[in-house]
Amino acid sequence: MKSIVLWVGIAGLLLAGGANAQSGAELAKSKNCMNCHDLEKKKVGPSFKDIAAKYKDNKDAEATIVGKLKEGKGHPVKVAASDAELKAMTAYALTGK
Ligand code: HEC
Repeated sequence: MKSIVLWVGIAGLLLAGGANAQSGAELAKSKNCMNCHDLEKKKVGPSFKDIAAKYKDNKDAEATIVGKLKEGKGHPVKVAASDAELKAMTAYALTGK
């Protein structure tokens, strides 16, 4: 009986760990970015492909974009997400991965 409780506990920990390590793509979906953005096509906002092209030679791309999303300056919506989540979504916008 004890061992069953233990295994359920371990499974719970593994699941929680997986949720923390969400990919940029999953986050962008769950944070509704994809309502306004698409990888390839322009929707309400520019496609992530266009954004990647725009920032291609910008060394500060990640910091600039994370700042915009966080403050809602230069971006129509202020994004409620942790820094790690913002970085993961930014990486997704810049690489499509
Ligand atoms: C309500 C629609 C909407 C939502 C939701 C939205 N965006 Fe945007 N986004 C836009 C628009 C419109 C622009 C173009 C802003 C401009 O260039 O003035 C933009 C621009 C961007 C840019 C480019 C900024 C730049 O400097 O060119 C990035 C990166 C971006 N969005 C990422 C995201 C991410 C990540 C999310 C989800 C957390 C998100 N967006 C959610 C509408 C949206």
